[in-house]
Amino acid sequence: MKEDPKRLERWTVKKLLEWTQGYLEGKGSEAPRREAEELLAHLLGIGRLDLYLDLHRPLTGGELSRFKELVKRRARGEPLQYITGQQGFWKHEFHVEPGVLIPRPDSEVLVQATLEALRGMESPFVLDVGTGTGCLIISILADLPQAWGVALDISQQALRLTRKNARKIRVEERLALVRGDLLTPFKKGVFHAIISNPPYIAPEEWGSLPTEVKEHEPYRALQGGEGGLYYISQLISRAWEYLKPDGVLVLEMGWRQKDKVKILLKGKPYKNVEFLTDLGGRYRVVRAWRR
Ligand SMILES: C[S@@+](CC[C@H](N)C(=O)[O-])C[C@H]1O[C@@H](n2cnc3c(N)ncnc32)[C@H](O)[C@@H]1O
Repeated sequence: MKEDPKRLERWTVKKLLEWTQGYLEGKGSEAPRREAEELLAHLLGIGRLDLYLDLHRPLTGGELSRFKELVKRRARGEPLQYITGQQGFWKHEFHVEPGVLIPRPDSEVLVQATLEALRGMESPFVLDVGTGTGCLIISILADLPQAWGVALDISQQALRLTRKNARKIRVEERLALVRGDLLTPFKKGVFHAIISNPPYIAPEEWGSLPTEVKEHEPYRALQGGEGGLYYISQLISRAWEYLKPDGVLVLEMGWRQKDKVKILLKGKPYKNVEFLTDLGGRYRVVRAWRR
């Protein structure tokens, strides 16, 4: 079918952004303009700001119908990052896809805490348990060119994505990928640091998560067993054996879990335990050194 040039001319970048902003706002989006821009920039294969260099550019019929599909997915509640296939974290853009948890800005506290602990060390060896997209370990290896690491996950899909991200960010030669369940595959006493953002949502908290998360992000990446503390407790009880003496354990946790995590650490061979906060002042990370 031939496109009617007059009809299509009406849908310029500017007009489409305005329409989509209004539509997404009506569907409950909290950042409708930014989302409209990200979707359209993704469709056109350009940066968000580049849209403003050619606001009067008309869209072709093919572009319009593909854009409509993207907007429909977003309006149905699919996370924007799964639609555009990317998420910025720390200093890099990471590939993301449905089935693997989207990196969260809060987890940058863990990256910062680990970098601080390893700075100055000659060639630190770091294990990331439950690597997902690989955002934590890849950010650390990219900032510390002498470091090397292991990314472990129970999900094969997560490991495939981590490989793709490690190649993109050029750390793949210093990163081994291992499929496994927590710490089982490793020799004891070898790591300078063990880091993890494990699943830590309690079953009773599940209902209060945003629908976007509950319906689209992987259950296994979030659900942390009783009190949300199953994986945190396993890691605290066992990680010290896999660390070198003076090695560091850095774990993300739920902002209301500090007191329980403190109890889990009691009597275990760790020293200098610290709880670190996110930008909102909530305790999100625990850092402890092996005695
Ligand atoms: C909260 S996500 C964190 C992902 C990533 N590190 C991040 O910060 O975005 C937890 C990850 O742990 C993985 N996982 C769940 N159970 C596991 C287990 N028993 N052993 C290893 N990894 C596990 C999930 O597949 C998921 O990728």
